[in-house]
Amino acid sequence: MSRTPFPVPFGWYQICWPDELEPGGVAPVYYWERDLVMWRDDEGAYHLQDAICPHLGGHLGHGGHVENCEIMCPFHGWKFDGTGANSEIPYSERVNRAAKLRTYPTIERNGLIMSWYHPFEAEPMWEVLDLEEFSDDEGWSETITRTIQIPAAWQEIAENSVDIAHFRYVHNTDVVPEARAYETEGHHALVRTVQKFVTPQGMVDGEINIDNYGPGFSVIRFHGIIDTVLLGCNTPVTSDQCEQRFSFRVKSFGDAATNSSVGEAFVAEVTQQIIEDLPIWKHKGHVTRPALADTDGPYLKFRKWASQFYAEDFDLDQAVYPPDPPTSSRPEPEGFQKHTASSRIKGEDTIRADMMSGA
Ligand code: FES
Ligand SMILES: [Fe+2]
Repeated sequence: MSRTPFPVPFGWYQICWPDELEPGGVAPVYYWERDLVMWRDDEGAYHLQDAICPHLGGHLGHGGHVENCEIMCPFHGWKFDGTGANSEIPYSERVNRAAKLRTYPTIERNGLIMSWYHPFEAEPMWEVLDLEEFSDDEGWSETITRTIQIPAAWQEIAENSVDIAHFRYVHNTDVVPEARAYETEGHHALVRTVQKFVTPQGMVDGEINIDNYGPGFSVIRFHGIIDTVLLGCNTPVTSDQCEQRFSFRVKSFGDAATNSSVGEAFVAEVTQQIIEDLPIWKHKGHVTRPALADTDGPYLKFRKWASQFYAEDFDLDQAVYPPDPPTSSRPEPEGFQKHTASSRIKGEDTIRADMMSGA
């Protein structure tokens, strides 16, 4: 049984950072429930294609190699170009025009290598914005990056952007961000929140502005004590597993050492939050019709926005899509026990004491 009703959504997704592949390099990758090969031609361009050779199924990512601007299959030496066309069969005079590798449009932008995925091979439906913060190397720090594997569907992770209530319980924050706006238009969804930050000088007002452009590219800007920008890129590995990559930049303080220590502290905080979210994501079910409080965030608006990225049919015929079954009847509890049984037991003790005193 699948733990998610949702197929893999379409959109632009980060597949690597530029320095992960040298010109001439080949790497097997697995995203969108597909075996893929990522390669870089001798001119430096990045390519992402289906990895299974249409000849007899050799995997181009395992032993394939680049010759100029073509990739050669390790099995019988057929070559394919950057469009996926068969460009050479070394033991034949002819090429096979029907033998074509599915090829994913690939771009370099904002210091990310991104590819467009659509299950039915529709052309890209929007462009990825060029962000000033990632081209202005004087005004902003160097980029700090992190990668985290998350055992949950894209939609479950992304729903966090409208979930204000979980901050107190999952992240144990005293001051909860206050939602000011949630708006959606086409592939763009924006969240505007204000938050108070405690500093030695007292409370300082800050803002957290999130802009989601499709399922794979989110820009999160923090303004206040410091200005930072965070690119959050979720790339589905399968319909219920994602790779999340972060790229952070801090508005420059003028010297690289300060930038890097502020940036690292900030990254540590955000990473800590993800680590706290992980056990929730791993073990949560998907509730088709959630029972909400009147003060809960705009979950239904978020879900309507999210649904536009599914090109394949799916049913919401179960009330709950549960997590994967555990391997034993007594799985080890996992998660942050900040609000532990002991606080509840203390509560019970109070009640008992009250009862005994006749109150
Ligand atoms: S399987 Fe790729 S060349 Fe034969
Ligand atoms: Fe969270």
